Amino acid sequence: MTITPAANIMLTDPLHARVDYAPEFDHGSAYVNGKFCPIDEASIPITDGGFMQADGAYDVVSVSKGLFFRLDDHLDRFESACEKFYLRNPHDRNATAKILSELVALAGTREAYVWWAVTRGPTPAKRTNPASYENRFYAFAIPYRFIASDEQRERGLDLLVSKRYIRIPPNSVDPTAKNFHWMDLKLSLFEAGEQGREWSVLCDADGNLTEGPGVNIFFIKNGELFTPDSGCLEGITRKTTLEIAAELGVSIHIRAVNASELREADEAFLTSTAGGIMPVNSVDGVVLGGESGPGPLTTKLHNLYWSKRWDGWLGTEVKYIK
Ligand SMILES: Cc1ncc(COP(=O)(O)O)c(C=O)c1O
Repeated sequence: MTITPAANIMLTDPLHARVDYAPEFDHGSAYVNGKFCPIDEASIPITDGGFMQADGAYDVVSVSKGLFFRLDDHLDRFESACEKFYLRNPHDRNATAKILSELVALAGTREAYVWWAVTRGPTPAKRTNPASYENRFYAFAIPYRFIASDEQRERGLDLLVSKRYIRIPPNSVDPTAKNFHWMDLKLSLFEAGEQGREWSVLCDADGNLTEGPGVNIFFIKNGELFTPDSGCLEGITRKTTLEIAAELGVSIHIRAVNASELREADEAFLTSTAGGIMPVNSVDGVVLGGESGPGPLTTKLHNLYWSKRWDGWLGTEVKYIK
C-alpha cells in the first residue's frame, strides 16, 4: 500500500475544484470588526492583547470536498478553551459556524484551512477583572495547507526531539485550551532546521513526550499504538486517528510515553488538522523500524483518514453562494 497523494488529488480532481469567487478573494477571506473582507485587506488593532500578549484562544477546522470536518468537535473545543481562559466569544455557536461557512464560500474553495480566535482585546483601566475587557473575534479562510507535502508524507518526515526546549507545563498555559503560546514550539522547529530535521516534538520536564508545533505525536510498537496522555492539545485529528485505529482493532495506549520509546518505535506519525496523518521516517537520525519510509499501519491510517473524509464522514456542508 502506498500513501494517497492527498494534496495532488485536492489540486487536480474536479470534485475538489474551487467554485466561483470574486478575484479579490483569491488568497482567502477574513472577518474582522464584524465585517467580511479579502484576506489581503484584513488587519488587527495593534493594541489588542491577542497580538501584544498572546492573550487569546483559537481553533482551526478544515474543509475538504466542500465539507467541514468535525465542525461540532472544533466548536466544542473552542468554547471550552474560551471558558478556561475567561474569554467571551461575542458570537454564539450558530453565528460562529455561519461566519466560518460564509468565509469559505467567499473564497470559493472546497479545500480550506479555517482559523478563528477570540482575543482579550485592548487593555481597560481595571485589568484584574476579565469582564472589563471587550473581547474580539477574528477569523479567516484560506486554501488548504499541508504541514507535510505529498512527497514528504510519501517518504516520511525526519523528526527531532528537542534537546533545548520543553513544552510549557500545563499549570502554566493549559495546552488543552488551544492558545497563542507558540514560542517553545517555534524555537524547537528552528532547532530542528539547524540539524537538518524537518519537524520537532517537545518533551515535558520529566522527559515524557508532549506534542510538536501544530501536531500531536503517535508511535507504533509491535502493532500497538501509543500517544501521550497529557501536556498536549486533545487534537481533533488525534481523536479521529484513535477512532480509526479502534475500528481496525488496534490496541491503543494513551499514557506517559518517554522519548526513548519513540526512538525505539517501529513506526511513528504526527497528526494535525493542517495535514492529517503525517508519517515519520526517522527520530534524531534513527530510521524507525530499520527501514526508510512510512510503515504499514501508518499508511493504512493515513489513507483511511482521507478516504473516510471524502466519503462524507462527520462532514458539514459549506453553503456556497449560488
Ligand atoms: C500545539 C498543537 N498540538 C496539536 C495540534 C493538532 O490538533 P488538531 O488535530 O485539532 O489540529 C495543534 C493544531 O494546531 C496544535 O496547535
